Amino acid sequence: MDRGYRPHVFDVDAGSARLAALLTPEQLSIVQFIQGDITQFQDVESAVGEHGITHVLHLAGIQVPGCAADPLRGARVNVVGTLNVFEAARRRRDLVQNIVYASSAAVFGPEDAYGGATVPEGAPLLPGTHYGVFKQCNEGNARIYFLNNGITSAGIRPWAVYGVGRDQGITSGPTKAIKAAVVGRPYTIRFTGSVDLQYVRDTSRIFVRCAEAALTGAKVYTPRGSVVRVPEFLATLEQVLPQARTLINAEGKPLPIAADLDDSALQRDLGGVQRTPLEEGIRETTAIFERLRGAGTLDTQDLNT
Ligand SMILES: NC(=O)c1ccc[n+]([C@@H]2O[C@H](COP(=O)([O-])OP(=O)(O)OC[C@H]3O[C@@H](n4cnc5c(N)ncnc54)[C@H](O)[C@@H]3O)[C@@H](O)[C@H]2O)c1
Repeated sequence: MDRGYRPHVFDVDAGSARLAALLTPEQLSIVQFIQGDITQFQDVESAVGEHGITHVLHLAGIQVPGCAADPLRGARVNVVGTLNVFEAARRRRDLVQNIVYASSAAVFGPEDAYGGATVPEGAPLLPGTHYGVFKQCNEGNARIYFLNNGITSAGIRPWAVYGVGRDQGITSGPTKAIKAAVVGRPYTIRFTGSVDLQYVRDTSRIFVRCAEAALTGAKVYTPRGSVVRVPEFLATLEQVLPQARTLINAEGKPLPIAADLDDSALQRDLGGVQRTPLEEGIRETTAIFERLRGAGTLDTQDLNT
Protein backbone atom coordinates (compact mmCIF):
# COMPACT_ATOMS: atom_id res chain seq x y z
CA MET A 1 0.00 0.00 0.00
CA ASP A 2 2.97 2.31 0.71
CA ARG A 3 3.85 1.85 -2.95
CA GLY A 4 0.38 2.78 -4.17
CA TYR A 5 -0.97 -0.68 -4.84
CA ARG A 6 -4.53 -1.76 -4.06
CA PRO A 7 -4.00 -5.29 -2.77
CA HIS A 8 -6.41 -8.18 -2.69
CA VAL A 9 -5.99 -10.58 0.24
CA PHE A 10 -7.01 -14.22 -0.26
CA ASP A 11 -7.27 -16.19 2.98
CA VAL A 12 -9.42 -18.95 4.44
CA ASP A 13 -9.74 -16.76 7.52
CA ALA A 14 -12.17 -13.91 6.87
CA GLY A 15 -10.84 -11.88 9.81
CA SER A 16 -8.47 -8.97 9.34
CA ALA A 17 -7.21 -8.56 12.91
CA ARG A 18 -3.54 -8.41 11.96
CA LEU A 19 -4.04 -5.80 9.28
CA ALA A 20 -6.33 -3.77 11.54
CA ALA A 21 -3.44 -3.50 13.99
CA LEU A 22 -1.30 -1.83 11.33
CA LEU A 23 -3.59 0.08 8.98
CA THR A 24 -5.96 3.00 9.46
CA PRO A 25 -9.65 2.27 8.73
CA GLU A 26 -9.27 4.25 5.46
CA GLN A 27 -6.29 2.12 4.39
CA LEU A 28 -8.13 -1.03 5.43
CA SER A 29 -11.06 -0.07 3.22
CA ILE A 30 -8.73 -0.17 0.19
CA VAL A 31 -7.83 -3.83 0.81
CA GLN A 32 -10.18 -6.23 -0.91
CA PHE A 33 -10.67 -9.45 1.03
CA ILE A 34 -11.45 -12.69 -0.77
CA GLN A 35 -12.31 -15.62 1.46
CA GLY A 36 -11.13 -18.86 -0.07
CA ASP A 37 -9.34 -22.12 0.56
CA ILE A 38 -6.02 -22.50 -1.20
CA THR A 39 -6.44 -26.28 -1.30
CA GLN A 40 -9.43 -25.77 -3.63
CA PHE A 41 -8.23 -25.02 -7.15
CA GLN A 42 -11.55 -23.43 -8.09
CA ASP A 43 -11.24 -20.89 -5.25
CA VAL A 44 -7.77 -19.86 -6.37
CA GLU A 45 -8.58 -19.77 -10.09
CA SER A 46 -11.70 -17.67 -9.65
CA ALA A 47 -9.93 -15.27 -7.27
CA VAL A 48 -7.26 -14.68 -9.93
CA GLY A 49 -9.70 -14.43 -12.83
CA GLU A 50 -12.47 -12.42 -11.24
CA HIS A 51 -10.15 -9.84 -9.70
CA GLY A 52 -7.66 -9.56 -12.54
CA ILE A 53 -4.66 -10.51 -10.38
CA THR A 54 -1.34 -9.60 -11.99
CA HIS A 55 1.17 -10.45 -9.22
CA VAL A 56 0.80 -13.14 -6.57
CA LEU A 57 2.55 -13.01 -3.20
CA HIS A 58 1.76 -16.48 -1.89
CA LEU A 59 2.11 -16.82 1.89
CA ALA A 60 -0.66 -19.21 2.88
CA GLY A 61 0.69 -22.12 4.82
CA ILE A 62 0.69 -24.37 7.85
CA GLN A 63 3.65 -23.94 10.17
CA VAL A 64 6.12 -26.56 11.49
CA PRO A 65 4.02 -27.79 14.48
CA GLY A 66 0.84 -28.03 12.35
CA CYS A 67 2.62 -30.06 9.65
CA ALA A 68 4.12 -32.37 12.29
CA ALA A 69 0.73 -32.94 13.92
CA ASP A 70 -1.10 -33.54 10.62
CA PRO A 71 1.26 -34.11 7.67
CA LEU A 72 -1.64 -34.87 5.30
CA ARG A 73 -3.26 -31.51 5.94
CA GLY A 74 0.20 -29.90 5.83
CA ALA A 75 0.79 -31.32 2.36
CA ARG A 76 -2.67 -30.30 1.14
CA VAL A 77 -2.17 -26.68 2.19
CA ASN A 78 1.56 -26.24 1.69
CA VAL A 79 2.18 -28.39 -1.38
CA VAL A 80 -1.16 -28.77 -3.21
CA GLY A 81 -2.06 -25.19 -2.26
CA THR A 82 1.16 -23.95 -3.87
CA LEU A 83 0.53 -26.10 -6.95
CA ASN A 84 -2.93 -24.51 -7.19
CA VAL A 85 -1.34 -21.06 -7.26
CA PHE A 86 1.07 -22.04 -10.05
CA GLU A 87 -1.63 -23.86 -11.96
CA ALA A 88 -3.97 -20.86 -11.78
CA ALA A 89 -1.10 -18.70 -13.08
CA ARG A 90 -0.44 -21.17 -15.90
CA ARG A 91 -4.06 -21.00 -17.00
CA ARG A 92 -4.17 -17.21 -16.71
CA ARG A 93 -0.87 -16.27 -18.32
CA ASP A 94 -2.79 -13.33 -19.79
CA LEU A 95 -3.06 -11.90 -16.25
CA VAL A 96 -0.40 -13.25 -13.90
CA GLN A 97 3.12 -11.96 -14.55
CA ASN A 98 4.96 -13.71 -11.72
CA ILE A 99 4.63 -15.46 -8.37
CA VAL A 100 6.60 -14.71 -5.23
CA TYR A 101 6.03 -17.44 -2.66
CA ALA A 102 7.16 -18.15 0.89
CA SER A 103 9.60 -20.99 1.06
CA SER A 104 11.56 -21.21 4.31
CA ALA A 105 15.03 -21.51 5.81
CA ALA A 106 13.65 -24.83 7.11
CA VAL A 107 14.83 -26.31 3.80
CA PHE A 108 18.30 -26.25 5.39
CA GLY A 109 19.60 -28.73 7.96
CA PRO A 110 21.20 -27.99 11.33
CA GLU A 111 24.35 -25.90 11.75
CA ASP A 112 26.66 -28.93 12.19
CA ALA A 113 25.53 -30.39 8.83
CA TYR A 114 27.40 -27.48 7.23
CA GLY A 115 30.47 -27.60 9.47
CA GLY A 116 29.32 -24.60 11.55
CA ALA A 117 30.37 -22.11 8.85
CA THR A 118 28.22 -19.63 6.90
CA VAL A 119 26.02 -21.75 4.64
CA PRO A 120 26.80 -20.70 1.05
CA GLU A 121 24.28 -20.19 -1.76
CA GLY A 122 23.57 -23.54 -3.41
CA ALA A 123 24.41 -25.61 -0.30
CA PRO A 124 22.57 -28.94 -0.07
CA LEU A 125 19.05 -28.77 1.28
CA LEU A 126 18.67 -31.07 4.29
CA PRO A 127 15.25 -30.33 5.80
CA GLY A 128 14.61 -31.98 9.13
CA THR A 129 10.81 -31.58 9.22
CA HIS A 130 7.81 -32.39 7.01
CA TYR A 131 7.35 -28.62 6.75
CA GLY A 132 10.86 -28.16 5.36
CA VAL A 133 10.40 -31.04 2.93
CA PHE A 134 7.12 -29.50 1.70
CA LYS A 135 8.86 -26.17 1.12
CA GLN A 136 11.67 -27.92 -0.76
CA CYS A 137 9.03 -29.68 -2.87
CA ASN A 138 7.47 -26.30 -3.71
CA GLU A 139 10.83 -24.99 -4.90
CA GLY A 140 11.08 -28.04 -7.17
CA ASN A 141 7.58 -27.55 -8.55
CA ALA A 142 8.33 -23.87 -9.20
CA ARG A 143 11.39 -24.94 -11.19
CA ILE A 144 9.29 -27.33 -13.28
CA TYR A 145 6.63 -24.66 -13.94
CA PHE A 146 9.39 -22.48 -15.34
CA LEU A 147 10.91 -25.28 -17.42
CA ASN A 148 7.56 -26.46 -18.79
CA ASN A 149 5.53 -23.28 -18.90
CA GLY A 150 7.94 -20.35 -18.54
CA ILE A 151 6.33 -19.12 -15.31
CA THR A 152 8.73 -16.85 -13.44
CA SER A 153 8.76 -17.15 -9.66
CA ALA A 154 10.81 -16.26 -6.62
CA GLY A 155 10.78 -18.45 -3.50
CA ILE A 156 11.80 -16.52 -0.39
CA ARG A 157 13.30 -18.46 2.50
CA PRO A 158 12.90 -16.43 5.69
CA TRP A 159 14.34 -17.73 8.96
CA ALA A 160 12.37 -16.13 11.83
CA VAL A 161 10.34 -13.06 10.96
CA TYR A 162 9.50 -10.77 13.88
CA GLY A 163 7.24 -7.77 14.23
CA VAL A 164 3.59 -6.87 14.74
CA GLY A 165 1.32 -9.64 13.42
CA ARG A 166 3.74 -12.47 14.13
CA ASP A 167 1.58 -14.48 16.47
CA GLN A 168 1.88 -18.18 15.64
CA GLY A 169 4.54 -20.80 14.98
CA ILE A 170 7.48 -21.57 17.27
CA THR A 171 9.62 -18.72 15.93
CA SER A 172 6.94 -16.20 16.91
CA GLY A 173 8.60 -16.40 20.39
CA PRO A 174 10.72 -13.23 20.03
CA THR A 175 7.70 -11.15 18.93
CA LYS A 176 5.61 -12.55 21.78
CA ALA A 177 8.47 -11.73 24.17
CA ILE A 178 8.35 -8.08 23.05
CA LYS A 179 4.56 -8.01 23.50
CA ALA A 180 4.77 -9.69 26.92
CA ALA A 181 7.36 -7.16 28.09
CA VAL A 182 5.14 -4.29 26.86
CA VAL A 183 2.16 -5.57 28.91
CA GLY A 184 4.32 -6.65 31.89
CA ARG A 185 3.71 -10.39 31.63
CA PRO A 186 6.27 -13.19 31.99
CA TYR A 187 7.06 -15.13 28.83
CA THR A 188 9.44 -17.96 27.92
CA ILE A 189 10.85 -18.33 24.40
CA ARG A 190 10.89 -22.07 23.73
CA PHE A 191 14.28 -22.40 22.01
CA THR A 192 17.87 -21.30 22.45
CA GLY A 193 20.93 -21.24 20.19
CA SER A 194 21.51 -19.18 17.06
CA VAL A 195 18.67 -17.46 15.24
CA ASP A 196 18.29 -15.12 12.29
CA LEU A 197 15.71 -12.48 13.20
CA GLN A 198 14.28 -10.72 10.16
CA TYR A 199 12.19 -7.62 10.66
CA VAL A 200 8.79 -7.94 9.05
CA ARG A 201 9.08 -4.67 7.12
CA ASP A 202 12.30 -5.91 5.46
CA THR A 203 10.71 -9.26 4.62
CA SER A 204 7.60 -7.62 3.17
CA ARG A 205 9.73 -5.35 1.02
CA ILE A 206 11.68 -8.30 -0.33
CA PHE A 207 8.43 -9.96 -1.44
CA VAL A 208 7.14 -6.79 -3.11
CA ARG A 209 10.47 -5.94 -4.73
CA CYS A 210 10.80 -9.47 -6.15
CA ALA A 211 7.32 -9.09 -7.67
CA GLU A 212 8.35 -5.75 -9.21
CA ALA A 213 11.79 -6.84 -10.42
CA ALA A 214 12.37 -7.98 -13.97
CA LEU A 215 13.38 -11.50 -12.94
CA THR A 216 13.29 -14.49 -15.25
CA GLY A 217 13.39 -18.09 -14.09
CA ALA A 218 12.53 -20.01 -10.95
CA LYS A 219 14.56 -18.09 -8.39
CA VAL A 220 15.07 -18.99 -4.75
CA TYR A 221 16.42 -16.44 -2.30
CA THR A 222 17.67 -16.77 1.25
CA PRO A 223 17.27 -13.43 3.05
CA ARG A 224 19.41 -12.53 6.04
CA GLY A 225 18.55 -10.32 9.00
CA SER A 226 20.21 -10.18 12.43
CA VAL A 227 22.08 -13.43 13.08
CA VAL A 228 22.37 -13.61 16.87
CA ARG A 229 22.21 -16.05 19.73
CA VAL A 230 19.06 -15.93 21.83
CA PRO A 231 20.82 -14.30 24.86
CA GLU A 232 21.87 -11.44 22.56
CA PHE A 233 18.23 -10.96 21.54
CA LEU A 234 17.24 -10.90 25.23
CA ALA A 235 19.96 -8.35 26.02
CA THR A 236 18.80 -6.10 23.16
CA LEU A 237 15.20 -6.41 24.29
CA GLU A 238 16.27 -5.34 27.79
CA GLN A 239 17.90 -2.22 26.38
CA VAL A 240 14.56 -1.20 24.88
CA LEU A 241 12.31 -2.53 27.65
CA PRO A 242 14.32 -2.91 30.93
CA GLN A 243 11.45 -4.83 32.58
CA ALA A 244 12.22 -7.70 30.17
CA ARG A 245 15.12 -8.69 32.43
CA THR A 246 12.84 -10.22 35.05
CA LEU A 247 9.92 -11.14 32.77
CA ILE A 248 11.44 -12.82 29.72
CA ASN A 249 13.65 -15.88 29.42
CA ALA A 250 14.42 -18.67 26.97
CA GLU A 251 14.79 -22.41 27.39
CA GLY A 252 14.84 -25.50 25.22
CA LYS A 253 17.00 -26.84 22.45
CA PRO A 254 18.33 -24.82 19.52
CA LEU A 255 16.13 -25.08 16.42
CA PRO A 256 17.61 -27.61 13.95
CA ILE A 257 18.12 -25.07 11.17
CA ALA A 258 21.42 -23.36 10.41
CA ALA A 259 21.00 -19.64 11.09
CA ASP A 260 24.13 -18.26 9.45
CA LEU A 261 23.05 -18.21 5.80
CA ASP A 262 24.54 -16.39 2.84
CA ASP A 263 22.13 -13.94 1.14
CA SER A 264 24.38 -12.85 -1.73
CA ALA A 265 21.99 -13.97 -4.51
CA LEU A 266 19.23 -11.74 -3.15
CA GLN A 267 21.63 -8.82 -2.63
CA ARG A 268 22.91 -9.26 -6.19
CA ASP A 269 19.56 -9.61 -7.95
CA LEU A 270 17.75 -6.84 -6.04
CA GLY A 271 20.76 -4.51 -5.90
CA GLY A 272 20.91 -4.31 -2.09
CA VAL A 273 18.37 -5.18 0.56
CA GLN A 274 17.48 -3.29 3.73
CA ARG A 275 18.45 -4.96 7.01
CA THR A 276 16.83 -3.18 9.91
CA PRO A 277 19.14 -3.43 12.96
CA LEU A 278 17.66 -5.63 15.70
CA GLU A 279 17.34 -2.83 18.25
CA GLU A 280 15.51 -0.61 15.75
CA GLY A 281 13.11 -3.43 14.82
CA ILE A 282 12.39 -4.11 18.50
CA ARG A 283 11.84 -0.38 19.13
CA GLU A 284 9.43 -0.04 16.22
CA THR A 285 7.52 -3.18 17.26
CA THR A 286 7.36 -1.91 20.85
CA ALA A 287 6.03 1.48 19.72
CA ILE A 288 3.19 -0.15 17.74
CA PHE A 289 2.30 -2.53 20.58
CA GLU A 290 2.29 0.40 23.03
CA ARG A 291 0.04 2.42 20.72
CA LEU A 292 -2.40 -0.48 20.42
CA ARG A 293 -2.31 -1.03 24.16
CA GLY A 294 -3.10 2.65 24.74
CA ALA A 295 -6.05 2.34 22.36
CA GLY A 296 -7.26 -0.77 24.20
CA THR A 297 -6.94 -2.93 21.07
CA LEU A 298 -3.81 -4.98 21.79
CA ASP A 299 -4.71 -8.66 21.42
CA THR A 300 -2.66 -10.72 23.89
CA GLN A 301 -4.31 -14.11 23.35
CA ASP A 302 -1.24 -15.34 21.46
CA LEU A 303 0.81 -15.05 24.67
CA ASN A 304 -1.07 -18.10 25.98
CA THR A 305 0.12 -20.33 23.12
N1 LIG B 1 6.95 -16.21 9.93
C1 LIG B 1 8.16 -16.72 9.66
O1 LIG B 1 9.17 -16.46 10.34
C2 LIG B 1 8.34 -17.60 8.46
C3 LIG B 1 9.60 -18.14 8.19
C4 LIG B 1 9.76 -18.93 7.07
C5 LIG B 1 8.69 -19.16 6.23
N2 LIG B 1 7.47 -18.63 6.52
C6 LIG B 1 6.35 -18.89 5.62
O2 LIG B 1 5.78 -17.64 5.28
C7 LIG B 1 4.37 -17.77 5.13
C8 LIG B 1 3.66 -16.78 6.04
O3 LIG B 1 4.08 -16.97 7.37
P1 LIG B 1 3.23 -16.42 8.60
O4 LIG B 1 4.12 -16.38 9.79
O5 LIG B 1 2.48 -15.20 8.20
O6 LIG B 1 2.22 -17.65 8.77
P2 LIG B 1 0.83 -17.71 9.52
O7 LIG B 1 0.59 -19.14 9.90
O8 LIG B 1 0.78 -16.69 10.58
O9 LIG B 1 -0.19 -17.29 8.36
C9 LIG B 1 -0.51 -18.17 7.33
C10 LIG B 1 -1.82 -17.71 6.70
O10 LIG B 1 -2.23 -18.75 5.80
C11 LIG B 1 -3.63 -18.85 5.92
N3 LIG B 1 -4.08 -20.18 5.50
C12 LIG B 1 -3.86 -21.36 6.12
N4 LIG B 1 -4.50 -22.35 5.47
C13 LIG B 1 -5.10 -21.78 4.40
C14 LIG B 1 -5.92 -22.29 3.36
N5 LIG B 1 -6.24 -23.59 3.30
N6 LIG B 1 -6.37 -21.43 2.43
C15 LIG B 1 -6.08 -20.11 2.50
N7 LIG B 1 -5.33 -19.56 3.47
C16 LIG B 1 -4.83 -20.40 4.41
C17 LIG B 1 -3.91 -18.61 7.40
O11 LIG B 1 -5.27 -18.26 7.62
C18 LIG B 1 -2.95 -17.48 7.71
O12 LIG B 1 -3.53 -16.21 7.48
C19 LIG B 1 4.06 -19.24 5.42
O13 LIG B 1 4.01 -19.93 4.21
C20 LIG B 1 5.24 -19.70 6.24
O14 LIG B 1 5.46 -21.08 6.11
C21 LIG B 1 7.27 -17.85 7.62
